[in-house]
Amino acid sequence: MKNNPCSGSQCSGSQCFEDQQFADGPIGIFDSGVGGLSVLQHIHQLLPSENLLYVADSGHAPYGCKDESYIEQRSRIITEYFLSQGSKTIVIACNTATASIIEKFRQQYGIPFIGVEPGIKPAMAMTENNNVGIMATAGTLSSERYNELSQRFISSVNLYHQACPGLADQVEAGLLNAPETIRLLEKYLSLLLARQVDTIVLGCTHYSFLTKQIKKIINDSIHLVDTSRAIAEQLVRVLEQAALKKISGDGSIAYFTTGSINNTRATMKRLLNKEVVVNCLP
Ligand code: DGL
Repeated sequence: MKNNPCSGSQCSGSQCFEDQQFADGPIGIFDSGVGGLSVLQHIHQLLPSENLLYVADSGHAPYGCKDESYIEQRSRIITEYFLSQGSKTIVIACNTATASIIEKFRQQYGIPFIGVEPGIKPAMAMTENNNVGIMATAGTLSSERYNELSQRFISSVNLYHQACPGLADQVEAGLLNAPETIRLLEKYLSLLLARQVDTIVLGCTHYSFLTKQIKKIINDSIHLVDTSRAIAEQLVRVLEQAALKKISGDGSIAYFTTGSINNTRATMKRLLNKEVVVNCLP
């Protein structure tokens, strides 16, 4: 399978057929677990004709406390699975994995990679008092990539970083309203609120599923920044520019996990409000 986006106007004969086959390939989306479903939902809404493969690496979650070589090894296994399925683009629906590997993978594999990173830029447009809180995993916050991103804004805004150990695990287990989840949220949010933040960035895709619970704890006037929709919009732009966007037919979604199928299915049902078929990652 050719891994180069078709340039359209230069296609002819069998070359064009090969490029068409590539353009019809699925989009691979992965996360350490179910968090990336928050991005997948927007992708499916904006690109209903695309076939989507979603891998939850639940058997190896969380990524947030693992070292970069472990995250790279896991991301490589999943990326190579997507490539074996003819994927034309890969979305790393995980801030932690994006921070660790996206630049390397962009250079190593010949297809577009779209990643997620904490939305500091949109937060800057929303904050009125210039105090912005960032909730993310320890892995994201300690990464070089995040450090470079935050340095770009540090002169114009006060950034308060809050690592949130345990929070992604609660979402992974589908325990959105459990007392322990609320206790963790109250603990982490109170540390940010003590800094007078008026804007909070959800810097981990798992946290999107806690938006309702977060809003119950914080004041209505505090802005929440969630970049899931923006990532899906970025994917649309990348596909259009590379002439890889499918515009007709009904797309499909296939869900895979590296963890327990029953547990992942139960959590996905809670998060998506519907039953889905979950397969074991081959
Ligand atoms: N959902 C992931 C992220 O956006 C990571 C959660 C974890 O595995 O720690 O960073």
